[in-house]
Amino acid sequence: MIGKICGTGSYIPPKILSNDDLSEMVETNDEWIRERTGVRNRHIAEHETASFMAAEAAKRALENSGVSPEEIDLILVASSSPDVIFPSVACEVQKEIQAVNAAGYDMQAACTGFVFAYQSAQAYIAAGFYKTILAIGTETLSSMVDWSDRGTCILFGDGAGAAVIRAAEGTAYLPAAHSDGCRGDALVCRSRFSSEFVEAFKKTGETPKDTYISMDGRGVFQFAVKSVPQIVTEVLDKAGLGTEDIDWFILHQANKRIVESVAKRLKTDIGKFPMNLQEYGNTSSASIPILLDEMNRDGRLEKGQKIVIAGFGAGLSWGASILEW
Ligand code: ACO
Repeated sequence: MIGKICGTGSYIPPKILSNDDLSEMVETNDEWIRERTGVRNRHIAEHETASFMAAEAAKRALENSGVSPEEIDLILVASSSPDVIFPSVACEVQKEIQAVNAAGYDMQAACTGFVFAYQSAQAYIAAGFYKTILAIGTETLSSMVDWSDRGTCILFGDGAGAAVIRAAEGTAYLPAAHSDGCRGDALVCRSRFSSEFVEAFKKTGETPKDTYISMDGRGVFQFAVKSVPQIVTEVLDKAGLGTEDIDWFILHQANKRIVESVAKRLKTDIGKFPMNLQEYGNTSSASIPILLDEMNRDGRLEKGQKIVIAGFGAGLSWGASILEW
């Protein structure tokens, strides 16, 4: 048995922050942001928490799949920006959607999170542990962004995406997954729950800078354009497939130039690399399921198509899987 996605859903907060809005907050402009990143708008959570958005995306995925909440065996949530340390977002989602028979827990692998959740779901289903799994990516990265740092605040947005994965007959494709903790300093966000943070906040009344996202932008860029083509080639080799056998390459939506560079290195038509980062920015673990949902609903995804999903981000971590629609 393999796991097949049988329904998708997403939630995007309605509040939009445009490049022009940002140019009133930091020294930047629409042209620079669009040229260097491809992003025009990003959506920002106001009252919405990571759990709220995850539950909304989950409800829509259930509706899309025709699966009832009682049929869900496991809820896996990838998030780097949960509202609280515990209970987990997965348990909050379980409560909200009334998935009374499900177990649930969270996974943290930054922007690779959804791919790792998808791979875990595959492994559980192949082992016969579970039949129906809800995998979710949800983020409120806007709460972790230093809005005075133009190198990072232009990039990120909020949102959630979900997929219902069900045991079915089909071809099993081996995944590829890597981490390199030695390069972890390239992308860091320190805890706001630590005693050091609380002490520093008490003294100054200000949030310490190192509890916002800090990033070596160029370093992350170079890591992405090298490691993503490698890992895509790795999953294709494991499956005995070539790029020509794949209908869509759904990459983590971090930067238009990263996606274009990966397509070029794989010598593959950029038309096979859909993007929606123009509207949402980088939503970390949510970006792949949000794009999957968009493509599922607008009819681009057709039965039998082969899709590569590939994520990369803090850790450093990166992973890819092949799935059949
Ligand atoms: N507006 C205007 N100028 C800017 C801005 C801005 N928002 N940000 C930086 N600059 C300036 C810099 O100060 C620098 O000026 P200088 O030459 O006078 O020193 C110049 O623009 C070039 O800066 P770089 O940082 O070299 O610009 P680069 O072309 O590398 O683009 C960017 C920066 C967009 C951050 C790019 O490096 C990038 O996208 N990196 C990958 C980041 C990423 O995807 N991270 C997340 C992946 S993992 C995850 O999703 C968690």
